[in-house]
Amino acid sequence: MNIFKKNLWGGRFSTNPSTETIAFTHSIDADSRLIGYDIWGSQVHAIMLERQKIISKTDLRVILHWLCKVEEDYQNGNFTLDPNKEDVHMNVESYLIENAGSEFGGKLHTARSRNDQVLVDAHLYIRDEIRNIQRGIITLSDAFLNIAKEHADTVMPGYTHTQHAQPISLGFWATAYVSMFLRDQNRLQAAYSLANMNPLGACALAGTSFPIDRDLTTRLLGFDSTHEHALDVISGRDFIAETLFALSLLMANLSRLSEEIIYWTTYEFGIAVLDDAYSSGSSIMPQKKNADIAELTRGRTGRVYGALFDLLTNLKGLPLGYNRDFQEDKPPLWEAFDIVNDCLTVLPQLLRTTKFNKERMLELTDANFATATELANYLVKEHQRSFRDSHEIVGWLVGELIKQGKSFLDWDLTHTLLKQKDIHISILQLQQILDARCALQNNKSLGGTSPAEVNRMIETLERQINEIATTINNCQAQVDNAHNETLRIINVSLINQNK
Ligand code: ARG
Repeated sequence: MNIFKKNLWGGRFSTNPSTETIAFTHSIDADSRLIGYDIWGSQVHAIMLERQKIISKTDLRVILHWLCKVEEDYQNGNFTLDPNKEDVHMNVESYLIENAGSEFGGKLHTARSRNDQVLVDAHLYIRDEIRNIQRGIITLSDAFLNIAKEHADTVMPGYTHTQHAQPISLGFWATAYVSMFLRDQNRLQAAYSLANMNPLGACALAGTSFPIDRDLTTRLLGFDSTHEHALDVISGRDFIAETLFALSLLMANLSRLSEEIIYWTTYEFGIAVLDDAYSSGSSIMPQKKNADIAELTRGRTGRVYGALFDLLTNLKGLPLGYNRDFQEDKPPLWEAFDIVNDCLTVLPQLLRTTKFNKERMLELTDANFATATELANYLVKEHQRSFRDSHEIVGWLVGELIKQGKSFLDWDLTHTLLKQKDIHISILQLQQILDARCALQNNKSLGGTSPAEVNRMIETLERQINEIATTINNCQAQVDNAHNETLRIINVSLINQNK
């Protein structure tokens, strides 16, 4: 008889853990997200034990019956996780033992350890979360592609050093984000592949002398492959580190977008206007309209980085095998998933409702010599000057115009100054060369800002997004099929019980 009410591992202990020990060590809050996965893992483990004749058919029936029941009770609120039982694994197992008796429930933990169990739960949960986030990125990419389709020839200043550089189109800007997000997708898919390996059967760290079938649990849990080396399985958290790194870079990209939204909506820039529904006001200054969503995205990025560094720091000092430090991998990961999901929920809508001020964009592009490079290029092509000479001449022209407080648009002056350098270009011709819209059309090189290239890239990007969507759907189907197969086996076992 187990005299320990609080812990299933109490045999060698003469007292129960103190209240402080329990409060300090339990992981109930973080574990609440894992219960469904913990139950699926246990169902599959029990099915395997019976197939391998490690437990009997009757044992399996009883175990499966109560595993279904505990899930139902949890969903109805009739079963809650108890901190006195330390973690989700002990809670579920205790429920089984209390309800089915130790002669049945006590057999579930044969050839298994909480060390591989917690990894199974984390792998299954991370798989689902990564697919969610990938879907969110597709929605956000679609919002950018809509902007790109509408604005392939909307001129705006492109920047280097935050200074006007060359004219680009708003569509070019928007497709840059989609192109970045495709790499985020690839990084997440790589993390998904690591999460999609089965840790179950590594047991505590050394494997087991029971004749377990790890391939069967791999199949029934919808994993791609079995992560074989038991000690590596138990010691490893790199699937979480890879996930957090992918999330961190994604947040870096979202934060850079936020930064642009924040200053594009300033009075000084005035090139974008947020919808009222996606902005905030001030408690004291009645005129204020702030880009709080973008600021909070930028502000929360550090917390996702923090989760990555938390884990990397945790890992660096740990000897191989299970260490309780690993329990700390979950809360920061959960927080990172929540932050990324929240950002991906609100940002597509914010973008869809943002208005872009085309006139202001053109005004800014024309005001500050953004087409100077076009003039230098023209001198190379039509006046047989080397690029370095052309650069010198146009640089001098800009310097002179600035001294006089003028721009290229003061055509007479531009024309006259060029003449001083023995460059004869008609005003009509100058107006064409220095027109930002013409410059846009002319940058047709592969990946350039010309509307033709932007439209071509939109098609390529759409194709790549569709491929990712297909991959996500296939991954989802693999998980669903495996879960349905588990449920089918459970049904067969439970029906036999009634015979
Ligand atoms: N709560 C633990 C964790 O998250 C579960 C595994 C506990 N294993 C152990 N040997 N104490 O890592």
